Amino acid sequence: MFSFTGPDMFSRRCVWVNGPVIVGGGPSGLAVAAGLKEQGVPYVIIERSDCIASLWQKRTYDRLKLHLPKKFCQLPRMPFPDHYPEYPSKRQFIEYLESYARHFDINPQFNECVQSAKYDEVCKLWRVNTVCDNGSEVEYICQSLVVATGENAKSVVPEIEGLKDFGGEVIHACDYKSGASYKGKKVLVVGCGNSGMEVSLDLCNHDAKPSMVVRSSVHVLPREIFGISTFQLAMVLMKWLPLWLVDKLMLFMAWMILGNMEKFGLKRPALGPLELKNNQGKTPVLDIGALEKIRSREIQVVPGIKKFSCGSVEFTNGEKLEIDSVVLATGYCSNVPYWLQETEFFTKEGFPKAPFPHGWKGKAGLYAVGFTRRGLAGASADAVKISQDIGKVWKDELKQKKQKVPTHRRCISTF
Ligand SMILES: Cc1cc2nc3c(=O)[nH]c(=O)nc-3n(C[C@H](O)[C@H](O)[C@H](O)COP(=O)(O)OP(=O)(O)OC[C@H]3O[C@@H](n4cnc5c(N)ncnc54)[C@H](O)[C@@H]3O)c2cc1C
Ligand SMILES: NC(=O)c1ccc[n+]([C@@H]2O[C@H](COP(=O)([O-])OP(=O)(O)OC[C@H]3O[C@@H](n4cnc5c(N)ncnc54)[C@H](OP(=O)(O)O)[C@@H]3O)[C@@H](O)[C@H]2O)c1
Repeated sequence: MFSFTGPDMFSRRCVWVNGPVIVGGGPSGLAVAAGLKEQGVPYVIIERSDCIASLWQKRTYDRLKLHLPKKFCQLPRMPFPDHYPEYPSKRQFIEYLESYARHFDINPQFNECVQSAKYDEVCKLWRVNTVCDNGSEVEYICQSLVVATGENAKSVVPEIEGLKDFGGEVIHACDYKSGASYKGKKVLVVGCGNSGMEVSLDLCNHDAKPSMVVRSSVHVLPREIFGISTFQLAMVLMKWLPLWLVDKLMLFMAWMILGNMEKFGLKRPALGPLELKNNQGKTPVLDIGALEKIRSREIQVVPGIKKFSCGSVEFTNGEKLEIDSVVLATGYCSNVPYWLQETEFFTKEGFPKAPFPHGWKGKAGLYAVGFTRRGLAGASADAVKISQDIGKVWKDELKQKKQKVPTHRRCISTF
């Protein structure tokens, strides 16, 4: 890595990276970095936050546990410690990631946010521009770019009529830590995905009074069926049966275990859970206790929101409810369109256009890791392919360089 400093010594630097730049120091970025490290390929990993896995460390609630068994959540080349439970807690997962980073000697450039990245057709190189927390700017120049900023980089905050006039506390689920400070309060949880369900459950467990907005439909499945992880069972069945049949079986088993939830306001979508996940990326909820609270009416299910007014909310069915606080469990989105100046490989929503399993590699050294809507297992699979691909290109170039007299790439940079 070579660094050139412009006339203003501390404000703008240009850095030549001898290898790829990885944007994002979450599980996906770490997994690619580990694969590159093992092959001796140099890289730079840039992270906007001051720690690795900032989603897990800073933007998740305290009671969070992995929803899938640990063997589906470990990163390549390093299993979870044997003493970890089947569903590690958030703290255990973070400790695992920290030891992963230590083991593979991964040291991201922290507090540095990628503002733009563009392929320079003249130089045949990527130009990645960052701004550091201290205000200084860096331009990295590299041959390949690994996008590892995640499917959940930005929280989705919907515009709802009257929300500004509500007057009480309004937070997104990414800022919710625990229900401890909500004791006795009436809280409206907007959204019934995994976050909405778990936040509602946590509020109940802290003696708050949650009402959960279910504006459309949702698939809720038990986390385990007959002692086997539902996810694992679906994976096994999918090896032998068509998707629609696996969906039917999953729904039948869910009905046997959970009963009919429609009478509690939880309608099932027309598409089965796996088909919905495949077609629209919508994750089914894996129940870890919220349903029991919905049955006992400790969590009230309410319909879509019409508008907020001072201290209350009105629903689409005309009913009104007085509330103290709002938690928006309204999901997340990719931030790729905000910084990557590229439209061939990524959609305008910031996901690879090519369907799974082809969305990991674009043209001109562009890669995407962790965008297959397949959680940590999907990110790990991408990371292995990407690091092997970059490793191969790297080794081929080294061989060629050994055979030829070295030529220098021309690279123009403005300071
Ligand atoms: C509440 C919650 C619970 C979840 N639980 C599970 C689970 O149990 N199992 C599972 O498989 N998946 C789960 N997920 C999905 C989750 O996305 C993955 O577990 C995992 O975090 C994905 O890793 P990633 O590295 O792709 O993305 P992230 O973990 O989001 O990491 C991306 C990193 O990129 C950084 N970044 C973003 N933009 C920039 C930029 N412009 N410049 C520099 N850095 C940037 C971010 O700060 C972040 O550190 C959960 C998600 C949420 C929100
Ligand atoms: N322990 C875990 O493993 C765990 C825990 C939490 C989250 N996660 C993962 O994190 C990811 C994000 O989950 P998430 O639950 O935060 O988001 P999500 O799955 O995208 O769910 C968002 C919810 O908000 C609703 N919503 C959005 N805008 C709304 C509006 N204006 N009014 C009413 N409702 C609105 C959606 O309803 P519609 O369906 O009608 O759009 C949906 O119910 C998922 O992959 C999830 O599996 C995992």
